[in-house]
Amino acid sequence: PPDGDLKGVRVLVTAGGTREPIDPVRYISNRSSGKMGYALAETAANRGAGVCLVSAPTRLEPPAGVKLINVETAAQMHRAVTELYPRVDVVVKAAAVADYRPRVVADHKIKKKEAGLVVELEKNPDILLELGRQKQHQLLVGFAAETEDLINNAREKLINKNLDMLVANDVTMSGAGFGSDTNIAKLLFPDGRIKSLPMMDKLELSDRIWDEIVKLRKTVPKD
Ligand code: C5P
Repeated sequence: PPDGDLKGVRVLVTAGGTREPIDPVRYISNRSSGKMGYALAETAANRGAGVCLVSAPTRLEPPAGVKLINVETAAQMHRAVTELYPRVDVVVKAAAVADYRPRVVADHKIKKKEAGLVVELEKNPDILLELGRQKQHQLLVGFAAETEDLINNAREKLINKNLDMLVANDVTMSGAGFGSDTNIAKLLFPDGRIKSLPMMDKLELSDRIWDEIVKLRKTVPKD
């Protein structure tokens, strides 16, 4: 990858799967490992960007030279990202944000009962949708993990969330998505272009994504 081509660019990356507490010892989460987001943060830093990594819990070591902000819930990620947003040039939202959270969080560990348990869920804010609505000079990149009708679902998200690029992957394919060190992605753009990439390491895919972002920053003068 071209050395230093992101020099002076302020980048915000989100990673990991948010945890939504049910009680002091339990939470609802998802299968995100954080690997894609951490790879994106690492490669951006290597290319000279100033990187803020807003991370939901993962088992990963933070990449060197990156400012790490740890969060747990979607609400905390929402707050951190909203605060940083005006001061960054590029946002890449690789985090798997829980769409729902328990409506009430019990103060004490919920006791086991004979009957089943109903946990009522309420909607979390769609952080990326909000960023898209408030977009000014920023380039916005989203991720879509799909299990069916990949292109149509991905295109809808790209348009709906006002993104400059969407990275779509079919998480049912082996070698793609959650937990894997590799990914198989399609890059979608608002002008209708689609780039289908072969299976590659998440670090290599990250460099391909930054290549596209560098190109977009050249073609769409934003500031
Ligand atoms: O709509 P969907 O959740 O599939 O869109 C995925 C993209 O939106 C990802 O980039 C994810 O980080 C972001 N997202 C978000 N806030 C949510 C849900 C998803 O920022 N509540």
